[in-house]
Amino acid sequence: MSELRIDNYLDADYFDRSLRSDVLNGFDSDFKELPPKWFYDDHGSQLFEEITRLEEYYPTEAERSILRTHAAEIVALSGADTLVELGSGAADKTRVLLDALRDAGQLERFVPFDVSEGILRSSSESILAEYPGIEVHGVVGDFERHLDKIPTTGRRMTALLGGTIGNFNPHERKGFLTEIVAGKNPGDTFLLGTDLVKDHDRLVLAYDDPYGVTAAFNKNVLTVLNTRLNANFDVDQFEHVARFDADREWMDLRLRSLVDQDVRIEDLDLDVHFDAGEEMRTEISAKFRKAGVEQELATVGLELVGWWTDERGDYALSVSRVS
Ligand code: SAH
Ligand code: TRP
Repeated sequence: MSELRIDNYLDADYFDRSLRSDVLNGFDSDFKELPPKWFYDDHGSQLFEEITRLEEYYPTEAERSILRTHAAEIVALSGADTLVELGSGAADKTRVLLDALRDAGQLERFVPFDVSEGILRSSSESILAEYPGIEVHGVVGDFERHLDKIPTTGRRMTALLGGTIGNFNPHERKGFLTEIVAGKNPGDTFLLGTDLVKDHDRLVLAYDDPYGVTAAFNKNVLTVLNTRLNANFDVDQFEHVARFDADREWMDLRLRSLVDQDVRIEDLDLDVHFDAGEEMRTEISAKFRKAGVEQELATVGLELVGWWTDERGDYALSVSRVS
């Protein structure tokens, strides 16, 4: 008997309040910054899917190839009957894991979790149709706020794919991993996708493709502010900037103001000034090394029990469990 349930913890009020405070805090100082979750309205989710289909954006295919080669092993290691996926998006690669769970006779439940309601609903519905007999229990929420809303039924493997862990700064990352561990039952596992440090030119190309898809994705955050907060950003007056910060080993993504300009954010009664050439950070995407991942997991009480990379060594998947 198939079953679909979707819980939504993002009412309009929550959305507006947290966007407002993020924008007020982010534009308050000399260094402007916005958190990445605001990229993903319906249009942003679509643009991200387009990014994942670009040759230049290697992480998606690298992760898929590791899953194809090792899914059976991962599933056996986990002993899971329930797959929870944080930031599941289109949940496209996830099907490789669901297939392996089904083939092992272990698949009972899929729990996708995403801030983007449209894509969560559509991916939940397609997966329910493709895997008859399973339970799909979607959660629309902010994984920085609502991890405690995730159902605890079953033996769970929690997946965080797509390099999304890299979008937290190191301090937030530790807090986030701590929260994940806090919600775990004995025997639950954590499947983590991490993009690895590599040739800088390839990194930059992955975040600054020649077709302008990534640029459009980055600028979409301004459109979100225009729509949700009655702002008047002229997206053509900003350009996409992608740099590798070699000291911190992260991609640093920004929007640079092309001119000296003032932007009005009506709903916050706020005027924001941008100097010509001034940059606003919209995202980081940290790149990892095995020793660092192992150590960060250990710090929060997770023991690394499996580590696999693709053939080129571009990307890694790891399984860890509460030690
Ligand atoms: N897992 C997919 C998508 C990765 S993109 C893949 O590997 O291709 C990151 C995803 O996380 C998006 O779907 C986005 O909507 C979601 N996301 C970003 N910030 C979030 C937050 N704070 N809470 C929940 N989901 C979030
Ligand atoms: N999780 C993705 C990553 O870090 C998000 C992403 C891909 C992204 N391309 C981007 C975010 C470009 C901002 C701009 O790889």
